[in-house]
Amino acid sequence: MSNITININGQERNVDVAPDTPLLWVIRENLALTGTKFGCGIALCGACTVHLDGVPIRSCVTPVAAVGNANITTIEGIAEAGSLHPVQQAWIDDQVPQCGYCQSGQIMSAVALLRDNPNPDEATIDAAMSGNICRCGMYDRIKRGIQRVASTGVQQFDPQEMQNG
Ligand code: FES
Ligand code: FES
Repeated sequence: MSNITININGQERNVDVAPDTPLLWVIRENLALTGTKFGCGIALCGACTVHLDGVPIRSCVTPVAAVGNANITTIEGIAEAGSLHPVQQAWIDDQVPQCGYCQSGQIMSAVALLRDNPNPDEATIDAAMSGNICRCGMYDRIKRGIQRVASTGVQQFDPQEMQNG
């Protein structure tokens, strides 16, 4: 076991875990941030997607010791002062989730896509979201939600910026 400090959702947190513990385990078990889900555990489904310095990663295959000083953002960290992130709001407006299990990972991928490309075309959305599996098959609604945010122009709401200042 080692005492490891990570920066998550704008806070410094200490955890006492083996250095090779997957970040997903730390997020869920040590920090009780259960919005991020375990799906496959082998980097195939995207349910465990979080941001590392704004870049979507698979937390199930990321050893906690590899994170260093990077800023981790989970689904719990993207709303600001009680206001949902525009992607979260679009997910409600378009009733995107069915069972919901994959959706925090979907949202984290969508947030990163829209930050990098505020007005993605359909092929770009498909490519960016192709690593996030939805067993309920809500792909059309996921795409519609992303297009809704793109059309409103409010996608610049950046959780990373929010954490930094
Ligand atoms: S749980 Fe990490 S990609 Fe499936
Ligand atoms: S909403 Fe059920 S797996 Fe995606």
